Amino acid sequence: MALLKILTEGNPILRQKSKSIDKITKRHKELAKNMLETMYNAPGVGLAAPQVGVLERIIVIDTGDGPIVVVNPQIISREGEYRDAEGCLSIPGRNEYITRSQQVVVTGMDLAGKKVKIEASGLLARAFQHETDHLDGILFIDYLEET
Ligand code: NI
Repeated sequence: MALLKILTEGNPILRQKSKSIDKITKRHKELAKNMLETMYNAPGVGLAAPQVGVLERIIVIDTGDGPIVVVNPQIISREGEYRDAEGCLSIPGRNEYITRSQQVVVTGMDLAGKKVKIEASGLLARAFQHETDHLDGILFIDYLEET
């Protein structure tokens, strides 16, 4: 395992759209492990592959209930709204209140290539929304201009 360098705001990679993963390889499994290690070391509760310079759709999250890795995550439904403080490992030192959906349902694959469907609320739902946004080049500060 290895710690990866986390790219920070201003790096154009963070603004690109990540590619879907058709076949999960050993390289993806290693990437996920290293992303988790990097996230825990930071410390943070979520990390998306583009933040470590890889433009592929994979996210890792741990909001206190153990590690979650989702490949090709997709938010298929949203419910409710809540506002809370949010930060990002790519924008160190900045915290802002952002409105997010209270509950989401996320689909995707695990590292074994098995389909997963996760129902999340609160902080976990927020983390899924934040990390999935990274795969589309969206940063949480983008929402500030809209409100
Ligand atoms: Ni982030």
